[in-house]
Amino acid sequence: MQTQTIDGLFLRLSTWPLTDRPTLVMLHGSGGTGVLWQAQLTGLADVANIVAVDLPGHGRSDGPLVGSIEEHAERIARLIGALGLPQAFVCGLSLGGGIALQLLLDHAEVVAGGLLLGTGARLRVMPAMFQLIDQHFEGFVAGLPLVAASPSTDVALLQPLMAATLENGAEVAASDLRLCDDFDVMDRLGEIERPVLVVSGEHDQLTPPKYSRFLAEHIRGAEPVTVPDAGHLSAVERPAVVNQAVHEWLGRRQLGVSASRDQSEQLLSR
Ligand code: COA
Repeated sequence: MQTQTIDGLFLRLSTWPLTDRPTLVMLHGSGGTGVLWQAQLTGLADVANIVAVDLPGHGRSDGPLVGSIEEHAERIARLIGALGLPQAFVCGLSLGGGIALQLLLDHAEVVAGGLLLGTGARLRVMPAMFQLIDQHFEGFVAGLPLVAASPSTDVALLQPLMAATLENGAEVAASDLRLCDDFDVMDRLGEIERPVLVVSGEHDQLTPPKYSRFLAEHIRGAEPVTVPDAGHLSAVERPAVVNQAVHEWLGRRQLGVSASRDQSEQLLSR
């Protein structure tokens, strides 16, 4: 893995400089960092450039915290330009999925497609979560496996993300969840014209499968995938299943593009 800081944003990259493969810009969820995408940085490196971002004010990226999901989307659109990419696939989980949706809606010119994991077009947050973060942040983090993962998930897989969340602190988690609570693009999904993959953990309690079904039903041509035995953090909990789904979906995108360039034989023979 390589790292770079570009425009104040700390990036974990599968490779640097970027190659001529498709590039996936990975956006983490509330309170987290790009460490969320460790298994994609290694497991998808053979099919795409993986660029996992620490959002502003998170992990090793410069602050301050950003005040809205729209502002996050503007910042990521700028990053895609700074990376020298005409377009990128945006891949987000939870809050990151909200940012990916906003990019698909407001910055489609720099987006080749979207991968939406454990997210929704509206992301209301239980008031009890804000209380717990405020009153007992360590307890909130310690309880994440119970609410954010499937009962069958090995808690050790979640430790790096939990440590990053603890290090970011309560203010960051609460600020992120406030952005989620304000987010609502349920009426705008019909505007999305880029290809979209919707990934849902079977046991997701924070963004239930109903939210993913809504995305898949209202975004034209969206492809839904359910990850068995996973909760909200499917990319960490069941990386092999998620990576396979992304790999196949990207392969179909590539095939569509390259068929016109008469390169399909090359792809099929891989
Ligand atoms: N996609 C599809 N449907 C959605 C949706 C989405 N993204 N978000 C909400 N809805 C539906 C709800 O299922 C509900 O439908 P219903 O009336 O048929 O039951 C309706 O829209 C209203 O829901 P909501 O906007 O969430 O308000 P609420 O007052 O009913 O519930 C919470 C508020 C916080 C209790 C609820 O949103 C919740 O349990 N959220 C998940 C837990 C959480 O805090 N997640 C953190 C997300 S980052």
